[in-house]
Amino acid sequence: MRLLITAGPTREYIDDVRFLSNASSGRMGCAIARAAVGRGHEVVLVCGPLEVAPPPCSVRDVVSTADMLARCCEEFPQADALIMAAAPADFRPARRVRGKIKKSAKPPTLRLVSAPDILAELTRRRTTQVLVGFALEAADLEKNARRKLRDKGLDLIVANTPEAIAAERSTVHVFFPDGGHETLADLPKEAIAERLVELVERLVAERRKDI
Ligand code: CTP
Repeated sequence: MRLLITAGPTREYIDDVRFLSNASSGRMGCAIARAAVGRGHEVVLVCGPLEVAPPPCSVRDVVSTADMLARCCEEFPQADALIMAAAPADFRPARRVRGKIKKSAKPPTLRLVSAPDILAELTRRRTTQVLVGFALEAADLEKNARRKLRDKGLDLIVANTPEAIAAERSTVHVFFPDGGHETLADLPKEAIAERLVELVERLVAERRKDI
């Protein structure tokens, strides 16, 4: 199968040297891409700045959430499944200043506007693709993850907590639309990735039977 996988953070530039971002390392997305390549799948990895090396596959580097959306929109029609493991920024500065903002007596006030929701946009463009999202929840994990599963029309959601960010091991809770769930407790991200790819293989096979 052909998988579109996203990984890492995005950057939203304030001026030419400063940006807003988050602590995502890209480890989970790269582990999923590596597991998928190892299982013989074709992988396109759309990624922000990574702290880990991506596996040998088609890598499309992006910077901002808008760039990630544009790249994903190009690749999505050819994909059997999307695995949205990236942590794209939700907000961006209303305007990017050219050059470098000088230190002034008064610190500037940043006005933020929304960045696009990539998963929501791809859900609108979906034809037969299986959609997998992640949910990073600091509280009410199951309730919030199930709301995202439903609202974003996903086939599966992988929920985790802020401790997972940039960690090598993690605990994730996988929720399915039929009410089922599976917990993958305290495992290296590679083992979690292997199981997630297996679940996606199953979902894609089921989707192919239906069409
Ligand atoms: N996501 C996305 N585009 C964004 C932000 C997030 O496609 N601008 C995707 C993530 O890759 C993830 C899913 O949406 O697969 C949920 O991300 P999360 O950060 O948990 O939730 P948000 O939708 O951003 O909502 P909130 O921050 O309110 O929890």
